[in-house]
Amino acid sequence: KQTNQLDTPGTKERFSSTGFILAAIGSAVGLGNMWKFPYITGQYGGGAFFLLFIACLLIVGLPVLLAELAIGRAGRGSASSSFVKAGGGKIWGVFGLLSVIAPFVIMTFYSLVAGWTLHYAVLSFSGQLFNDTDFGGQFSSFTGGYMPIVWGAIVAVITSFVVVKGISGGIEKFNKILIPGMLVLLIILMIRSITLPGGMEGVSFFLSPDFSKLTPESALVALGHAFFSLSLGMGTMITYGTFVNRKQSLGSATMAVGAGDMLYALIAGLIIFPTTFAFNIAPDAGPGLVFVALPAAFSAMPLGWLFGGLFFVLLGIAALTSLVSLLQVPVSYVMEKWNLRRSTAVWIMSGLVFLLSIPSAVSMGLMPELQINGMPVFDFVDFVASNWFLPLSGLVVTLFAGYFWKNVAEEAGLTQKWFRVWLFMLRYIAPILVLFVFLYSAQIIKL
Ligand code: PHE
Repeated sequence: KQTNQLDTPGTKERFSSTGFILAAIGSAVGLGNMWKFPYITGQYGGGAFFLLFIACLLIVGLPVLLAELAIGRAGRGSASSSFVKAGGGKIWGVFGLLSVIAPFVIMTFYSLVAGWTLHYAVLSFSGQLFNDTDFGGQFSSFTGGYMPIVWGAIVAVITSFVVVKGISGGIEKFNKILIPGMLVLLIILMIRSITLPGGMEGVSFFLSPDFSKLTPESALVALGHAFFSLSLGMGTMITYGTFVNRKQSLGSATMAVGAGDMLYALIAGLIIFPTTFAFNIAPDAGPGLVFVALPAAFSAMPLGWLFGGLFFVLLGIAALTSLVSLLQVPVSYVMEKWNLRRSTAVWIMSGLVFLLSIPSAVSMGLMPELQINGMPVFDFVDFVASNWFLPLSGLVVTLFAGYFWKNVAEEAGLTQKWFRVWLFMLRYIAPILVLFVFLYSAQIIKL
């Protein structure tokens, strides 16, 4: 076990121990858990898919998460320079650029979806959402208009205000309040949902696995989602790692973040599936599930405006705690590269993200001709970030830590036994599986 008390120079700000774990859980728990996870679980096999997701999280997700944190803490630079400062050659810094660009790309559409959730929270609390029961029509006329851009700006401003305040005074504080707050909201909503008449059917759809429903495609989707859900391949965990104390055990932090991510996904499923089953909504409705199908359920339940409003607030919080981690990645990068003050870096980066989100926003209706490769820009950006950047930069992390990093044992700080298990996963399991996901999701191979 390592006893290295020396600290490398580089980032000066530090998280407290619990603050770091909450911030990392905040990054991991996001729209991925509450918007994407339920609908892909609905589409790819219910309970069996959930188990597959957990397996991917354990076998590939956690080893890569630990590697990212260790690289960050050892290098204390940006998501790119940390590879070099941790002892890698220059080329790793170039590969690491993938992890600086990726969050930028993700943010341009993630912040829009965050804005949708805030808009829906307002609509639900005010009751306006329920005046017109054509929820599909409402959703497309909203996302097709200019309002998402306004909400995108609001989201950018909130995120920037948090990140401007720095690591302990901003990001850590924000998460310390909101992560427990989210848990309270989740539990209230879960109780409401499973006590609906017919709700238990949804619980059994979600929790009783039927393995005949799985396809090879489910496995790849589950693995890709495990990556996305743990915020891997985006430079976020490397960047958060640069602010972690030398004394903190990265092994236990990794376990805590994995457990937190799983718990929040589990509860999100226990909210969404009982509700959809109680109101006879198909659980495989796709991306519109929470914005189109759930409002129908809320409109039919007593105090639905309240539960609906709370649900969308919850989604908004989950998105914001992820967005602050994403914004910190390019912020760390330009602070180091151009020696900028934090506030300057934050406003420039978030302004840029906002501008770049406009094409995505207008591609959903105002200018449908704004397409790349036959997809609206919005879908294209999601596609490229999740299917190209994320697996490729994940691969860079596993190869670096698994094969090329001399100090890996010391920096991971694991016991002998766990170190061997971890290294085995990083060398032989993770890269191969990640490569498969990449080839499949980038549509280079077909199943
Ligand atoms: N993990 C977040 C979610 O599940 C998304 C995310 C990905 C956040 C990458 C940061 C970095 O929604």
